[in-house]
Amino acid sequence: MTQNKTILRALRGETLPTPPIWMMRQAGRYLPEYKATRAKAGDFLSLCYNPELAAEVTLQPIRRFEFDAAILFADILLIPQALGADLWFVTGEGPRLSTITTADELAKLKPVEDIHETLRPIYETVQILSRELPSETALIGFAGAPWTVATYMIAGQGTPDQGPAHALKAENRPVFEGMIHRLTEATIEYLSMQIQAGAEVVKLFDSWAGSLEDDDFTEFSIRPMQKITQALNERHPGVPVIVFARGAGSRFAGVHQATRADCVALDDGVDPVWAAEHVQIDGCVQGNLASAHMVTGGQALVDDTRRICDAFAKGPHIFNLGHGITPDADPDNVQLMIDTVRGS
Ligand code: CP3
Repeated sequence: MTQNKTILRALRGETLPTPPIWMMRQAGRYLPEYKATRAKAGDFLSLCYNPELAAEVTLQPIRRFEFDAAILFADILLIPQALGADLWFVTGEGPRLSTITTADELAKLKPVEDIHETLRPIYETVQILSRELPSETALIGFAGAPWTVATYMIAGQGTPDQGPAHALKAENRPVFEGMIHRLTEATIEYLSMQIQAGAEVVKLFDSWAGSLEDDDFTEFSIRPMQKITQALNERHPGVPVIVFARGAGSRFAGVHQATRADCVALDDGVDPVWAAEHVQIDGCVQGNLASAHMVTGGQALVDDTRRICDAFAKGPHIFNLGHGITPDADPDNVQLMIDTVRGS
């Protein structure tokens, strides 16, 4: 019966009367039960590497809201850590990593086949989830896209304009390209193991795709995602891939064809009426409600939710936010969004 899960039907191209719904960062600090489990685990990374507790926080939003899909609880920066970079999180600030900007540093990274040693607990979380999720709920695995992960590895932290990564791309092309290549290979192996452990869909997060211009966008956002999609399709035919090239703007048109992904996730920077005509025409789309509505709620939330559902009603659509829900969001607004989508 697994193939009848609503998200899988939408990903195969079916137009459904009610779009399936899940939410980026649905397990997170806006939920009191997440904060309680996180306190038990200690820090964020200990939670990611604790299969029982990571599965527990993945299940919390499913129990509370009955979303149509669960997304594995982990982080896109576990791949650099598995390749040998140091990683830690500074409370209130975000991630920090040891930087990699030279040929020597790149050469010191571990070989791709060694990543599983570190990432084994993540696969175990996936196995627990595929046993424990309700039979109608799909399980989504994920990884960061190579460009976005590289921006953190090069800068050692999040950056507003990805300046250090753009500088390395301009000043030391072989090291930059070597890093993208290594991340592409590692991501194929990582997602392949998630699928073997029970992930039914995988998503690539290219959160900083928008800062790549012209040919760079094609070469460093689209092409690595296309390579990963192709390798996964060959190894695991029928497992759908969602790609999220955040900030792509008018370049969202053509992403299905260029990556061969089953679904293009849209941020809230594109108008749904435009996107129905220019993106959904090529296949399933996901998105694109502004996350701010989860903080402010009210009639504006209802109106925008209906506008998005109406715009995408004639083709395959998965309802979602345009980006992750923020810690100051109100769970009641999440319920209001779900009730509006499901028409109850
Ligand atoms: O969507 C989900 O619920 C699945 C889990 C998930 C997390 N991060 C959990 C998390 C996913 C898919 C991510 C992706 C991720 N991580 C991205 C790409 C998506 C995006 O939001 O653009 C990026 C850029 C990261 C790196 C990262 N991890 C950052 C910048 C931060 C923020 C630091 C902070 O303190 O807010 C994190 C931490 C993080 N990842 C949290 C969660 C629930 C908060 C950690 C906590 O509990 O303190």
